[in-house]
Amino acid sequence: MRRSGGGPGPADDDCGVNVTVDLHVADLHPALDDPALNSMNFLNEVAQHYPDAVSLAAGRPYEEFFDVAALHRHLDTFRRHLADDLGQSPEQVHRTLLQYGRTKGIIHQLVARNLAVDEELTVDPEAIVVTVGCQEAMFLVLRALRAGPDDVVLAVAPTYVGLTGAARLLDLPVRPVATGPSGVDAADLRAQVRRARAEGLRPRACYLMPDFANPSGTSIGVAGRRALLDLAAEEDLLLIEDNPYGLFPAGDTRRLPTLKALDTARRVVYLGSFAKTVLPGARVGYVVADQRVAGPDGTVDLLADQLAKIKSMVTVNTSPIAQAVVGGALLKHGCSLVTATVRERAAYTRNLHHLVDGLGRRFPAGSPVRWSVPTGGFFVVVTVPFPVDDALLHRSAREYGVLWTPMAHFYGDGAPVHALRLSVSAVTPAEIDVGLDRLAALVTDEMARRDATVTVG
Ligand SMILES: Cc1ncc(COP(=O)(O)O)c(C=O)c1O
Repeated sequence: MRRSGGGPGPADDDCGVNVTVDLHVADLHPALDDPALNSMNFLNEVAQHYPDAVSLAAGRPYEEFFDVAALHRHLDTFRRHLADDLGQSPEQVHRTLLQYGRTKGIIHQLVARNLAVDEELTVDPEAIVVTVGCQEAMFLVLRALRAGPDDVVLAVAPTYVGLTGAARLLDLPVRPVATGPSGVDAADLRAQVRRARAEGLRPRACYLMPDFANPSGTSIGVAGRRALLDLAAEEDLLLIEDNPYGLFPAGDTRRLPTLKALDTARRVVYLGSFAKTVLPGARVGYVVADQRVAGPDGTVDLLADQLAKIKSMVTVNTSPIAQAVVGGALLKHGCSLVTATVRERAAYTRNLHHLVDGLGRRFPAGSPVRWSVPTGGFFVVVTVPFPVDDALLHRSAREYGVLWTPMAHFYGDGAPVHALRLSVSAVTPAEIDVGLDRLAALVTDEMARRDATVTVG
């Protein structure tokens, strides 16, 4: 919809039809006009607009293994756990499953067991807040840390747009930290912390994904993780570790200890998601926030308790039914999601190898096209000799029938970016082949078009 001038009154919709508007986006929170908040909707809308296009854009989990019947079994497993393991009476079981519930969640013990089994991470269940997806966890943490206008958060760039969008909604500036060959440029992180402080600002934390990051695909080695923890201690900085993809190393790649497992000084706030390991529709994630917080009266509690206060005013509590489904899935596999996701891991490994091999065949040595070769996760970044923007994505969808994500969405500074992100998670090898053929045609035509423009010009 278009409208010139301020104040209420008539405006033209996209078809030129006159409509009366009641509010202007300029009068709403400034973030609502920010590209970061439009990003996810834009990408979804493009996908909906071109349903026949092959999507190498969506970072959604593989749908072949979704199973509605499993939901009932998981619910029942969790119901029996409440009765048999926790000794709840039938009335208590009903209340736990069907009533408003504990703000910090009802599967905290199982999440703590999962972290012990899969990550060798010992966590006080009281330090866990079960959230509506990892996205809510991110929001709660940023809300708590943003105490005043001088606070900023650092984030390794390219940055997951969910973090950027949440920060914008909270009026919390995000300052980028460069990605180095091993996931984060530690020298730049230190420089950014010091620069912010020199400007009178307060860097509250640095957000990063040590394992198979979205969107870069990079991982941080063990030495790099230890160095980051040392740096965080030296600079008195929190690290927000987001780990939705850590259980998906490709092939023989060894899983590395999480930052949180290496953290002996409570420097790391750990974000978890069950979207990729159990199912995204449940919308269950969590945060481990074991930092001790001193109150004005000398009392000390956990950051998790502060986050719970915020949660009680945002979503009240995470659906106990959704938690029960996730809890049942955890119980079924002895709380090991490594065990629960063997099939998924094999599918993602197969697809990642297929995609990387396919890129090699379509862009042989000498081609200016380059790509990352991640050791796991969902994402490959392809670098091309021309800027990649939303207009090109539209053309790719319309004329070539393939979707991908412009990397510019993960920088948010408006500068041209010559790269796109491919995702291997929600496609079959046959779809990858078709998608790559179409992408290769687009890239070849685009390079020829630009060459012709340069020659003619
Ligand atoms: C890096 C990252 N963090 C968080 C999320 C959101 O997770 P959830 O679906 O649990 O909210 C995603 C989802 O794709 C993600 O890629």
